[in-house]
Order: sequence, then structure tokens, then C-alpha cells
Amino acid sequence: MDITNRPRRNRKNPIIREMVAETRLHKDMLVYPVFAMPGKSLIKEISSMPGIFNYSVDELIKHTEKSLKLGVNKLLIFGVGEEKSENAISSHQQNSIVSTAISELKKEFKDDIFLISDVCLCAYTTHGHCGVLENGYVKNDESVDILTKMALSHARAGVDMVAPSDMMDGRVGAIRSLMDSNGFTETGVMSYSIKYASAYYGPFREAADSSPQSGDRKAYQMDYRNSLEAMQEAILDENEGADILMVKPALAYLDVIKQLKLNTNLPIACYNVSGEYSMVKAAALKGWVDEGKIVRENLTAFARAGANIIITYHALDALENNWL
Ligand code: PBG
Ligand code: ZN
Repeated sequence: MDITNRPRRNRKNPIIREMVAETRLHKDMLVYPVFAMPGKSLIKEISSMPGIFNYSVDELIKHTEKSLKLGVNKLLIFGVGEEKSENAISSHQQNSIVSTAISELKKEFKDDIFLISDVCLCAYTTHGHCGVLENGYVKNDESVDILTKMALSHARAGVDMVAPSDMMDGRVGAIRSLMDSNGFTETGVMSYSIKYASAYYGPFREAADSSPQSGDRKAYQMDYRNSLEAMQEAILDENEGADILMVKPALAYLDVIKQLKLNTNLPIACYNVSGEYSMVKAAALKGWVDEGKIVRENLTAFARAGANIIITYHALDALENNWL
């Protein structure tokens, strides 16, 4: 045959395939989510997330040692098992489970570990919504007020970055300004800028015991039919002082990651959420897919779409088994 262009020439063998690869994964891109709970010597498996556990702080320290040995040095911390109340009082007390975990981890590992804390009220409210509820509606400004206090308490405990995941309007600017006026100008904000109302959060809500007791989160989290609105959300957060923008979930939203890449110069994180993790795990446990290959393909897709940072429950497995 008389063919001038033969793209297969660049796929001829592993050496040339490595040479022309456009996307590469690196352990430094990975952030590992962890769940801290009150108590001592406690490890509780999350039944819908095989391989993921809630840890008391002493156990979390041991688990973090393992993470560091594998090369994962960035954690996203969630608090579970705190006393719940109408207005999420336990979310911002200085001895909250998250603030305790932050200060203990920092005491143990100093700046070898980079800590990011989730800032949201749903694990701390009796009704399970991400803010203050009145007549079935989450009130924006009242919620922002509590969220800023929560962020400040984490900053005081020594967190490197706070990550508001509530989707209230104006919370990035309010958190930035309260942290600044308290001297925490170097504490960053990784904003869950583009967070969709998603069925993929199901397993997480078991882990954090944070399901809304009534209604859903659609009056604050985004409608997954929209991506222009997503750009609007991201640009607002950028203008309010966010240091990193996040898209969540990740797998079903690769187009949004790509679109955001074209609309911002900030680093982009994506959150490979609980339901995405559990689907892969379940199929792998059944022997229906090759877990390592599937994980590598998914993580590569996030990077190819434009994510610099990948928050994933697969992080430790990926490094332990050389999946990257
Ligand atoms: C809290 C929060 C959620 C997740 C991260 N922060 C749950 C939710 O919004 O319902 C989901 C993470 C995951 O599914 O892995 N607002
Ligand atoms: Zn929430």
C-alpha cells in the first residue's frame, strides 16, 4: 500500500511509546482522603468502601507513617463521629476531631506531611445538611459564618490548606478574609469550586454518617446538566482568593475538568469520589476487571483532561502495587 502517514510508527515498541507519551502520572499528584474519629485504638472499616477505614487519631498516625513510606505526603482530612447539633457547634471547637488530628499529625510529622482539611457542616448537623437549615432550606450567610469559624479553627491547629466543600456563595472570600485578619495569610484555600449534586457520594455518606435526613443537596450543590455555571462558580472562587480549584466528582466530569483548564491559570484538583472508588473495587473483587489497570487508566484520564492534583482513595494501593 502507498501510505504516507503511518501513525503506528510512533507506537512501534515500548521505548517509542514512552518517548511520545503526552501524559504521565506521578505520586506527587496524589492526595489521600482520610477519616478521623474520636477515641483510642479504633479502626472501623467502611463496608461500602473496601480498604478504607475510620481511624482514631493514634491509629491515623500509624496509617500516615505507612502513607509517607509509600510516598503519599498529602492528606485530605474528614472528621466523623462528633456530637451532632442543629448548628454544628462541634464543627469549630478547638478540640474538634479534625483540629485534634491536625495538631497531632503536625506534631508527629512536622512539614513532612501536607494537611488539607475538609470544611463542611454535614457531618456535624443533626439534619445532615451542609449548612444551617430553616424551613427545609439551607441559609447561605448564616452557614458561611459557621464555616469560616471552622476554617479558622483548622488554621489555628496548623493545617496547611482548608478545603470548603459546602457550596455556599461567598464562602471562599469570607474564609480568606477571616484567616487573613487572624494572621493566617499562609494557610491556603483549595476550593471545592465545582461540586455537583451527585449519586457518586453514596459510600462517603456511610463513612462520614452525613446523609441529609430530609430532602437532598440540590439547592446548593450543582446541577450536573450544567458546565457554563461551573465556570462561573470557579471564576468567582478564583476572584475570592482560592489557591486551587477543584472539580468533583471526576470520572463523569472529565469535560468539566478540560473546560476549566481552558478558563483558569490556577492549579486544578479533581476528586475521584467514593462511588467511583467503590465501583472499581466491587468489580475488581468480583474478578471482572483488572484493578491496577483500571485505576491507572482512570487516573491518567484525569491528568489528560487537565488535573494537576488527583484526590483519590486508590492512592496507597496505587503506590504499593506500582500501578502508576
Ligand atoms: C461533604 C463532602 C462530601 C464529599 C466530600 N465532602 C459528601 C457530600 O457532599 O454529600 C464526598 C466525597 C466522596 O464521595 O468521596 N460535603
Ligand atoms: Zn457537606
